Amino acid sequence: MFSAVVDNFDAWRKQARGLLAAERAPSAVRFVAAEETQPSLFGDEAAEAADSAKITELNSPPRRVPPAFLDLAKHVACHRTPGRWNELYRLLWRLTHDEPRLLEVATDDDVHLLRTKEKQVTRDVHKMKAFVRFRRVETPDGERYVAWHRPDHRVLPLVAPFFSRRFREMHWTVMTPDATAVWDGEQLHYGPGANSAAAPQGDALEELWRTYYAGIFNPARIKLKMMRREMPVRHWATLPETTIIPELLAAAPRRVEAMVRAAAAAAPGAAAYLPEARDWASLAAAAAGCRGCDLHARATQTVFGVGNPRARIVLVGEQPGDQEDRAGRPFIGPAGEVLDGALRQAGLAREELYLTNAVKHFHWQPQGTRRLHKKPPARAEAACRPWLAAELDAVGPKAIVCLGATAAQAVLGRDAGKARERGVWQRSRYCERTLVTWHPAAILRAPDAPAAARMRADLVRHLQMAQDEAGIS
Ligand code: URA
Ligand code: SF4
Repeated sequence: MFSAVVDNFDAWRKQARGLLAAERAPSAVRFVAAEETQPSLFGDEAAEAADSAKITELNSPPRRVPPAFLDLAKHVACHRTPGRWNELYRLLWRLTHDEPRLLEVATDDDVHLLRTKEKQVTRDVHKMKAFVRFRRVETPDGERYVAWHRPDHRVLPLVAPFFSRRFREMHWTVMTPDATAVWDGEQLHYGPGANSAAAPQGDALEELWRTYYAGIFNPARIKLKMMRREMPVRHWATLPETTIIPELLAAAPRRVEAMVRAAAAAAPGAAAYLPEARDWASLAAAAAGCRGCDLHARATQTVFGVGNPRARIVLVGEQPGDQEDRAGRPFIGPAGEVLDGALRQAGLAREELYLTNAVKHFHWQPQGTRRLHKKPPARAEAACRPWLAAELDAVGPKAIVCLGATAAQAVLGRDAGKARERGVWQRSRYCERTLVTWHPAAILRAPDAPAAARMRADLVRHLQMAQDEAGIS
């Protein structure tokens, strides 16, 4: 009987390859899960097994197995049951011994067993992605983010790469009872497991998270059953938001408005989110995380400006609409079509321009199943103005065209006497040449066709004025 101790997928794969090449049948092989062994035993047997695997590996090329098996095996490897390594080897043996299509036979006992384990692991991976909450810790080396989580299975190696992509800029540590993953900004490192006492408690991040959660949590949409299913009670202890859930449930829909109002009063404005570097890319990246006012809570994403960051002409709209909210880009819906038509007539290409909005999140109210555009409140326009100001400063255009009153107010300010006068060059704090014109959506709402045609002609003419001013021909 050949026996080997393995503690991870790569170790198992290496062993299994050697064993297959040596034609060792599953009945003559016994894998021992490392977590079941004493440390001394582990050391001896692992070394011995590695030797035998090396010998056979040298003599024969690895067998071909379906890629689906590798994926299945990587997941099952993280399952907590000790029998997994032997079960995987048995399946591998059969796949490479006259049953290459075995994985398609869902009713087969071996396949069924491992598929079930795979599913359990996959589910656990999703949960870990959803439930891990980082807490910020100040260290002499800077900020560190720490989380503690107790997964059902040993899924950390499957999830850590995901965190390293998502939180690439942060230095973070995820501790589980089995293992710890550390991301230093460049590389992932794994270490021994930790118990929950080692995880920092009650720091500033937790407070921040609680506020954030109250801001985005919509009690009107709470589905208790779904929540229980998705959020096993066992996890609740590590989730700071659970301290407010019962409260939210009790007060339900009536509370939404109050929460939104409270969030608005406490809103720091975009200034709190401005990055140190003011180049366009840094601004866009930072704006994606803006929580400067309550608008973000019901919108899908920040819709930042697009186009040429050195453009001579900047067009400023009001705020993203429904389609822009979903796509993350300004002026791609019906108003965008009108604008495109006018630009074409004026002989301007989008690539020559920089296109943005006064307010970067979609403000809406429900009507049936639709999300109806709502004019952004003045406080949102004020809260969001630092983004617009930073964008305009970064681009430094020769001419600014304000599409509609909200843009005019954002660029020219409340006190600009002529802020609403269209087609007249005005001076703003961002540009000597600032012009107000119709909003394309106003053209769509025009009372009749002749009015729409007049407005459209105005818009085209004003765009041409900007083009002349900016010296684009
Ligand atoms: N209306 C706007 O003001 N901006 C958009 O991005 C879309 C519609
Ligand atoms: Fe920030 Fe502006 Fe969005 Fe408010 S609307 S959250 S200020 S980006």
